[in-house]
Amino acid sequence: MSENNKPRRDFIKLASMTLGGVGAASLAIPFISSMQPGKDALALASTEIDLTPIPEGESLTVVWRGKPVFIRHRSQEEIQIAQETKIEDLIDIEEDSVRVQNDKWLIVLGVCTHLGCVPLGQKTTDSKGDYGGWFCPCHGSHYDTSGRIRKGPAPKNLEVPPYVFLSENRIKIG
Ligand code: FES
Repeated sequence: MSENNKPRRDFIKLASMTLGGVGAASLAIPFISSMQPGKDALALASTEIDLTPIPEGESLTVVWRGKPVFIRHRSQEEIQIAQETKIEDLIDIEEDSVRVQNDKWLIVLGVCTHLGCVPLGQKTTDSKGDYGGWFCPCHGSHYDTSGRIRKGPAPKNLEVPPYVFLSENRIKIG
């Protein structure tokens, strides 16, 4: 991919339509370290997301119920690494297959399970940690390409929120 595409990729914005009658709102936000939930975000019971603009290997952050949700369009390599990880190497044992509905799309809450920081790894320029997923700089937790904790003080994998696929490229979270 060319360098010229980087700014665009880092700031992908999607129109997100709420089901609660609040109306459409742009919810794509680059999260850096922490965030305070706004009243609008807290009001959203569910959020629909069009996945089409997210290129393979890149991620999008949306807000659902005041929390960041990480959506990663996993590459074949990322999928393979997640699927081939030995169960005995995991801290919080979960197969990749129970964490995704479609191998290409990993959807997890962007909240570190240690003390709640927002991990790095969403932007192409971010550190993704030792396991290619996310890195929480607060106290050094490393998550893999399935959002599973692999190293550091966090005790649990990144949580998978409730969601459904409405079509091949559209999901509803919540
Ligand atoms: S909050 Fe993430 S490692 Fe402590």
